[in-house]
Amino acid sequence: MAGRRACGYAVVMNDIDRRTFLAAGATAAVPLVLGTSPAAAAREARGWRPRPFAAGPVVISSGNGLPAVIKAMEELKRGADPVDAVVAGVTLVEDDPNDMSVGYGGLPNEDGVVQLDASVMHGPTHKAGAVAAIENIRNPAQVALRVMRRTDHVLIVGAGALAFAKAHGFREENLLTEQAREAWLKWKENLNRDDDWLNDEQHLERDARAEIAEQLGIPWHYGTIHCAAVNADRNLGACTTTSGLSYKIPGRVGDSPIVGAGMFVDNEVGAAGATGRGEAVIQSCGAFQTVQHMAAGLEPQEACLKTLKWIADHTKRRSLLTSAGRPNFNVTMYALRKDGAWGSASMLPGGTFTIHDGTEARRLRSTPLFE
Ligand code: GLY
Repeated sequence: MAGRRACGYAVVMNDIDRRTFLAAGATAAVPLVLGTSPAAAAREARGWRPRPFAAGPVVISSGNGLPAVIKAMEELKRGADPVDAVVAGVTLVEDDPNDMSVGYGGLPNEDGVVQLDASVMHGPTHKAGAVAAIENIRNPAQVALRVMRRTDHVLIVGAGALAFAKAHGFREENLLTEQAREAWLKWKENLNRDDDWLNDEQHLERDARAEIAEQLGIPWHYGTIHCAAVNADRNLGACTTTSGLSYKIPGRVGDSPIVGAGMFVDNEVGAAGATGRGEAVIQSCGAFQTVQHMAAGLEPQEACLKTLKWIADHTKRRSLLTSAGRPNFNVTMYALRKDGAWGSASMLPGGTFTIHDGTEARRLRSTPLFE
């Protein structure tokens, strides 16, 4: 372990992350020209230089995204647009009944109904599309893509999103698998300790939700998949898709379908995304903030850490803080810069991410802000 100081606060970069972090930045190849917009000029004046591109396209995803980065890379190499490539990648995970954080098999809301959220963003056109609280459609990322391409809107929710999906030929189905139903039933049988209806006292004092679920042996998470890609032409696309917070109040929408929170792309700079406690990511405009930090010259991993530090500094509710005053929830940020440099960081240990650099796909630990 090697301690280091970044952005004015102590962080720990472990050896594996240090190696991969350096590898991402230390490649030498064709210099990248980003254009001469005022933003680019300001970045360069602050000493930021576009790094040489690694070995062709790059895809980053959350820790559950190994199949996604492999599929997205195949698509990029076949010449697919980056946003189509990442949606093709996350579709594999949405279809996986064993991933209970997304799509088919995702954990349901408190009524036992699976409600899904997703967003996509296309760098070259700066267009975005999203759906929230959509039911009975296993691939919300594909519906978000249709919203982006086939409407003048960005976000369609609930019954409107389902009607829109059906108009585009998506098939309705029951998304609640037996495994997810049993987990939900167990949660329901233990109601009141960890549901989302808080009285004044619980609002201030209740135990960390993850700890309660662990004590009860119930699957519980804010699980999600984020995936972003840059292609050989240095164009970016990104997607985030989720079943959201387990056993949420029906209609609760997290950060994943909120452009600028769960995902954001600036084709001049890079892409960022988030998984974890969506409320914290919405309140920090997490993905937008991370891209702005990269635009200001921070390396991708440092940009992620700075956003997490901002979230930590702005978390005031006692029930969300440890006795040491640190957030008791996890958020993991992912960042991919236009030149192919990448990084990830998490609030607490345990965050992971996957990367495909055109040669191999790897799963790595995200650097924690707090040990
Ligand atoms: N980050 C996913 C959610 O909070 O819904």
